[in-house]
Amino acid sequence: MPAVDLVVRNIGQLVTCSGAGAGPLGLLRGAAVAASDGRVAYVGSEAGLPALADDAVVIDADGALCTPGLCEPHAHPVFAGDRCAEFAMRIEGSTYLEIQAAGGGIYSTVRHTRAATDDALLKGARERLERLLSFGVTTCEAKSGYLLDVEGELRLLRIIRRLAAEGPWRLSPTLLVHVLPEDRREARARYVDEVVSELIPRVVAEGLAESCDVFCDRGAFTIEETRAILTVAKARGLALRLHADQIADTGAAALAAEMGARTADHLERVSTEGIAALAAAGTTAVLLPGAALCLADPWPPARALLKAGVPVALGTDLNPGSSMTESLPLMMSLACTQLRMRVEEAWLAVTRVAADSLGRADAGRLEPGSRADLVLWGCDDYRHVPYHVGGNHVRTVVIGGEVAFEA
Ligand code: NIG
Ligand code: FE
Repeated sequence: MPAVDLVVRNIGQLVTCSGAGAGPLGLLRGAAVAASDGRVAYVGSEAGLPALADDAVVIDADGALCTPGLCEPHAHPVFAGDRCAEFAMRIEGSTYLEIQAAGGGIYSTVRHTRAATDDALLKGARERLERLLSFGVTTCEAKSGYLLDVEGELRLLRIIRRLAAEGPWRLSPTLLVHVLPEDRREARARYVDEVVSELIPRVVAEGLAESCDVFCDRGAFTIEETRAILTVAKARGLALRLHADQIADTGAAALAAEMGARTADHLERVSTEGIAALAAAGTTAVLLPGAALCLADPWPPARALLKAGVPVALGTDLNPGSSMTESLPLMMSLACTQLRMRVEEAWLAVTRVAADSLGRADAGRLEPGSRADLVLWGCDDYRHVPYHVGGNHVRTVVIGGEVAFEA
């Protein structure tokens, strides 16, 4: 084993999310983690620590909780403007779809995003990623979806590529086919054709996305349109994710299962058949309690999904319309109190399960060989994080064996 260059010692509770420790979270007590070249080299008792390099960084956790870096499996971080006026309108009784049909909603963000420079979009997204990092997020999915036309969506994905290169975060870029452009709502077939014959091939040729997502719902794309888009995306090698059964049960979860999608996201209105289809296909449910909270929608049926054997991940859905938040720990609190997820299930949902749903089997866990991405918290019990609703206990975030954030 090469000499290690980072050691975190004197950890009170170490959540490994691997087989290294006890229970569903792989919990170790009084443990240490060591890393070499950005990868975990050792997890276990202090006594067994390997030799340190002369210039090794040693962090004394002082009895604190240490967990894998959080993984955000569903975020829309690149946009301009805000929709606080719509937030107020919804509280006074307007619905999300009414606002969108009147040219607001996603269309309002599209207009602001179109008017913004690349620098302004970079700056806004960078600030959001910094806030995600401050809440413990080390790996983050990043969707396009707020320019809609071919050149615009390519532009958003190139911005995401620049942000990924800047780091310190790890980004997983997704092409999101979001809604019909406002002036093309009468020519649906031509837009879908442009997506499959031009947008997707160009995204793939430039290597701009790992996944393709479609908003398959009332007010967005139909099942048939979505199937056509996902079929081409899959044939071109993109992994599939789907905004499914949020506003209405259109059978989108079953389509996600049929297409072998990695994830079906939202699911506030998923049917029993949709749940069974996800379970049979092994598709992960990405639940987004922030959207249900802000739109006053029903909570997604986490218990029924878990009971059926569907892996459940949690995301913020960070976006300017339905869920303006970067706090993944707040999503854990909502998942525990409202979705009735166990604390351990909520932790796995923002670590290992979320990482797996992004195809990152070396993130969201701490075991030899995995990425040295971890969070030291200013509390000593993993239950404290969802218990302190709206709090932020993140103390130190390490990415690739280097300190990326300190509170
Ligand atoms: O995940 N549901 C569709 N897309 C986003 C909302 C986007 C927006 O309103 O700007 C969501 O909730
Ligand atoms: Fe979303």
